[in-house]
Amino acid sequence: MTSPITGLNQEQRLHIDNHLDDGYFDRALRSDVLAGLTKTPKQLPPKWFYDDRGSDLFDQITRLTEYYPTEAERSILRTHAGDIAAASGADTLVELGSGTADKTRVLLDALSKTGQLARFVPFDVSEGILRSSSAELLDEYPDLTISGVVGDFENHLREIPLAGAKLTALLGGTVGNFDPEARRAFLADIVAGMKPGDSFLLGTDLVKDIDRLELAYDDPYGITAEFNKNVLHVLNARVGANFVVDDFEHYAKFDTENEWIDIRLKSLVAQEVRLEELDLDISFAEGEFLHTEISSKFRREGIAAEVAEVGLELTEWWTDENDDYALSLSVLK
Ligand code: SAH
Ligand code: AVI
Repeated sequence: MTSPITGLNQEQRLHIDNHLDDGYFDRALRSDVLAGLTKTPKQLPPKWFYDDRGSDLFDQITRLTEYYPTEAERSILRTHAGDIAAASGADTLVELGSGTADKTRVLLDALSKTGQLARFVPFDVSEGILRSSSAELLDEYPDLTISGVVGDFENHLREIPLAGAKLTALLGGTVGNFDPEARRAFLADIVAGMKPGDSFLLGTDLVKDIDRLELAYDDPYGITAEFNKNVLHVLNARVGANFVVDDFEHYAKFDTENEWIDIRLKSLVAQEVRLEELDLDISFAEGEFLHTEISSKFRREGIAAEVAEVGLELTEWWTDENDDYALSLSVLK
């Protein structure tokens, strides 16, 4: 569709920079797999969940009533999107880990109403989901230009275009998937791409009743289990591994000391796994864990301190009606 305002057609309104060619992808995966599976305890970073199947499984998780964060965040966005648009004065919305960009529409609608919105910059490690969500958004927002970045949070944040008054959003609780040290570095990297006056919108799941937390990460339909095990499918496909996926069991427990959900895969039997393309054999003892993800739960004081540490000032803190989830808005001083 050609925009009646800008006169640009769909092709001119979409630009995607892919920084994850097969070479990068394979090098990074191989190095993570080699480092992670040869140490004790065994560990893999959660970014490798998200091939097309993993992105689809995550999308299914977000539709489960047991997984409350998505709807809680959507309800806060619906109530406060106008405040966010007004406070940020942004013409550019950057979304880190944009996924399906489903809730993003609430923000795009509010920013459109200010008459300033010009550009959406989705950033994601999953090219498939970035392309499909961008195609839908181009149809829905005829005046919007999309400059997508397929990249890795750890290496490609500086590829995000600098121009414009920016609102950078990190939604869905994704910040909780970093350990505290990596989180500090990640927030500092995000701020390095902002200018004074730019805004940062952060979605964080909050500490709550353990039973609800654990149900959200171990749903009765087994979808979260499939999502967790998807990393084994990715390794089978990308590094020639021969994981028997059903020989592993999903594990998700709340760690009360660290206040995070600790997500692992438990080997149900003693077994050897061959990773052909790495020329690597690894053994699992019966009951041995492979750590795949943490999902931290937060409190207001902690977030205020963490954003302050990277030079941001927390200006708003909104929660849903059950106080399950928070959206915070910060500004770079
Ligand atoms: N923001 C969406 C999706 C959250 S799921 C929501 O609120 O529902 C996390 C998203 O981050 C996924 O789309 C995943 O592909 C992306 N992601 C995970 N690790 C990443 C990394 N290292 N670099 C870039 N994107 C990453
Ligand atoms: C993407 N991220 C915020 C999700 C979370 O809640 O930590 C990933 C997830 N893992 C299991 N369920 C959902």
